[in-house]
Amino acid sequence: MKTVVSGIRSTGNLHLGNYFGAVKNFVQMQNDNNCFFFIADWHSLTTHPTPEDLHINVKRVLAEYLACGIDPEKATVYVQSDVPEIPELYLLMNMNAYLGELERTTSFKDKARKQPENVNAGLLTYPVLMAADILIHKAHQVPVGKDQEQNLEMARKFARRFNNIYGEETFPIPQPYSYTGEFIKVPGLDGSGKMGKSEGNAICLVDDPKDIRKKVMKAVSDSGPTEMNQEKPEPIQNLFTLMDIVSTKDTYDFFNDKYNNCEIRYGDMKKQLAEDIINFTSPIRERILDIMQDDAYLHKVTKMGAEKARESAAKTVEEVRRLIGFRKF
Ligand code: TYM
Repeated sequence: MKTVVSGIRSTGNLHLGNYFGAVKNFVQMQNDNNCFFFIADWHSLTTHPTPEDLHINVKRVLAEYLACGIDPEKATVYVQSDVPEIPELYLLMNMNAYLGELERTTSFKDKARKQPENVNAGLLTYPVLMAADILIHKAHQVPVGKDQEQNLEMARKFARRFNNIYGEETFPIPQPYSYTGEFIKVPGLDGSGKMGKSEGNAICLVDDPKDIRKKVMKAVSDSGPTEMNQEKPEPIQNLFTLMDIVSTKDTYDFFNDKYNNCEIRYGDMKKQLAEDIINFTSPIRERILDIMQDDAYLHKVTKMGAEKARESAAKTVEEVRRLIGFRKF
């Protein structure tokens, strides 16, 4: 049986990118694997949430996870900050993580550019904390989207390094997992790049139908193709990628043919896309709203999850301490 670990930062509502990049894979994996799914609330501190926001953000993401079909009876569902073994492993891993390699990661460089007033050490060592999240349960597989490819590569590097220094077999080298066999990148609605929480281009699972229609109708497009079978420019390709994800093959083929014959009307395509997104998100949205009301359930899930996660994490930390040379007097 494989061990699977996946997480999500508690910095905003779950969007289609999170769902199709990571959560969907996880839901499929939870039946036959030893799965750990957590909310990365320590990671969210790099952007300084207020104390009032911190808890509600975690609650929202937790409810959204569960509404997507993550089953706490099958998977271990927990909040990162309930597992103090993770920061211990993070501290130990930091001793073999080097400034140069951390400074070179694209996510660090991106964040440093986006928030020059807050280039904190937590941002720099973000990949080390993520590696600790993964290695604490000795994960074999990690379902993540394309944007986490480099962070996962760092986790693999830190695992290999630890194994080389202290013992070849300590950590399995975690593999990325996606049901399509490739990292997925769900595009945003603003013409270029990925759908993201901080990009302001996301369709969230909890969005109501009115908002979804508004967002999709405003998505960037162009004046239409001028030649048959013309290659699609990025904003148009993005609309088709989204349609490929949420619509039926017939619908996709219909609009694709229209595009190739220069008969496409983007207004019609967007209307259809919006309705297909709404069909997909509506049942999830209803479950999110229900679960958000059920504090007793959320308490039960996180209590059970923390116990199971700590049991697994404590074993790893004990082994790592012993390998590094810590001894009791
Ligand atoms: P986060 O919270 O940004 O995103 C959670 C998951 O959603 C995926 N994702 C996407 N996939 C495809 N297309 C998109 N547009 C898109 N946007 C987001 C992400 O790749 C991710 O899998 N650092 C992580 C959280 C984390 C973690 C971990 C993940 C912390 N520790 C350990 C796995 C294992 C993050 O910020 O993801």
